[in-house]
Amino acid sequence: MALNVGVLGLGSVFSGPYASLITRLTQEGRIRLVAGYDPDPAKRKAAADRFSIDTSYERAEELLARADLAVVLVLTSMNEHGRLARAALAAGHHVLVEKPMATSLEEAADLVKAAADAPGLLVCAPHVALSPTYREMHRRVRAGEVGDLHLARARYGWSGPWWGRWFYESGGGALFDLGVYNLTSLCGFFGPVRRVTAMVGTAVPRREAEGELVTVRADDNAHVVLDFGDARFASIATGFTIQKYKSPAVELYGTKGTLQMLGDDWAPEGFEQWSNDRGSWELFPESDPNWPWTDGLRHLVECVENGTATVTRPEHAYHALEVMLAAQRSAAEGRVIEIASTFPDFSYGGGDGAGSDGGAADSRAKHDPRSS
Ligand SMILES: NC(=O)c1ccc[n+]([C@@H]2O[C@H](COP(=O)([O-])OP(=O)(O)OC[C@H]3O[C@@H](n4cnc5c(N)ncnc54)[C@H](O)[C@@H]3O)[C@@H](O)[C@H]2O)c1
Repeated sequence: MALNVGVLGLGSVFSGPYASLITRLTQEGRIRLVAGYDPDPAKRKAAADRFSIDTSYERAEELLARADLAVVLVLTSMNEHGRLARAALAAGHHVLVEKPMATSLEEAADLVKAAADAPGLLVCAPHVALSPTYREMHRRVRAGEVGDLHLARARYGWSGPWWGRWFYESGGGALFDLGVYNLTSLCGFFGPVRRVTAMVGTAVPRREAEGELVTVRADDNAHVVLDFGDARFASIATGFTIQKYKSPAVELYGTKGTLQMLGDDWAPEGFEQWSNDRGSWELFPESDPNWPWTDGLRHLVECVENGTATVTRPEHAYHALEVMLAAQRSAAEGRVIEIASTFPDFSYGGGDGAGSDGGAADSRAKHDPRSS
């Protein structure tokens, strides 16, 4: 039976990328978009006209009270994520929350606890670990093909959004919006960060957003250095300060070889592998060039359908948030910051291909009361 979906936040990512995947999953008979809420009446009307859904709510909580909902997508501006995702879980729904899961550690901790206590699953963006390229690189790292990882470098950036002034307000910024991809990717390969040091700043103090010049009150430029322990280090270059690049998204340096992800970690184009044994580079193109970065929704639906656990856990998103907040503090205070949290390593269960995301025997899977 198709799962009823409600959406909070009917802005840019809803009307473009998520709408494409929603349409595809609807055509497959797996979901049905039934409700949406956004404080902006024009966005509510556009969504109602396009999808014939109920947008007659005055507040997000009214949508969450719908008993027929199975899945809620939280696609709002970042500082609303924690509160709304927690309320959606408390209302008994499965939840996908865009990144970051929250903008304060207190809110994020409440959300992780709510996810553990609630019947619903919580999938946290970014969904980088689900791409075929990432899965295959992860498999090779875990199989020891490039030896022990000692060093890595990642980058992602662009010139910055012109819509949504919230990107440049407190609780926004490039680290939360962009750096989170590289951080999530690197932690998936290396495990938890132990210490962080960073330069984080505002390079362009006035920017155009929503057709006006706004004063930037969030970071737009960062270099972050991560210490994973045992002299294993990685760096991230990220910001709304990059026009174009040709460098790999992620470079992993091991004792027996090198892996270089091509494209971006949210839109990978495959990878290149150097191995000392072969003495050459090999190119492995992305097996699904149309893989969408919204794939967490397909993954969540699949986990609900099959009663399986999600590949990455909310603790991974919590850890990424702690590291980003620590990077900001490190820059402000000029010192190295210790990281307290960890997260469980993940596996792809029965197989590495999209569509086989977990074993039914996985003890972390939750029973869905709505499926009985
Ligand atoms: N734009 C991108 O390329 C991109 C890519 C990946 C992820 N994201 C993430 O997706 C989220 C949305 O980004 P966007 O570009 O669509 O922003 P946007 O500003 O276009 O849309 C956000 C929407 O959320 C609405 N909103 C605010 N508070 C709300 C509330 N309490 N309840 C319901 N709706 C509320 C706003 O009115 C707005 O329409 C952000 O978390 C962002 O980090 C964006």
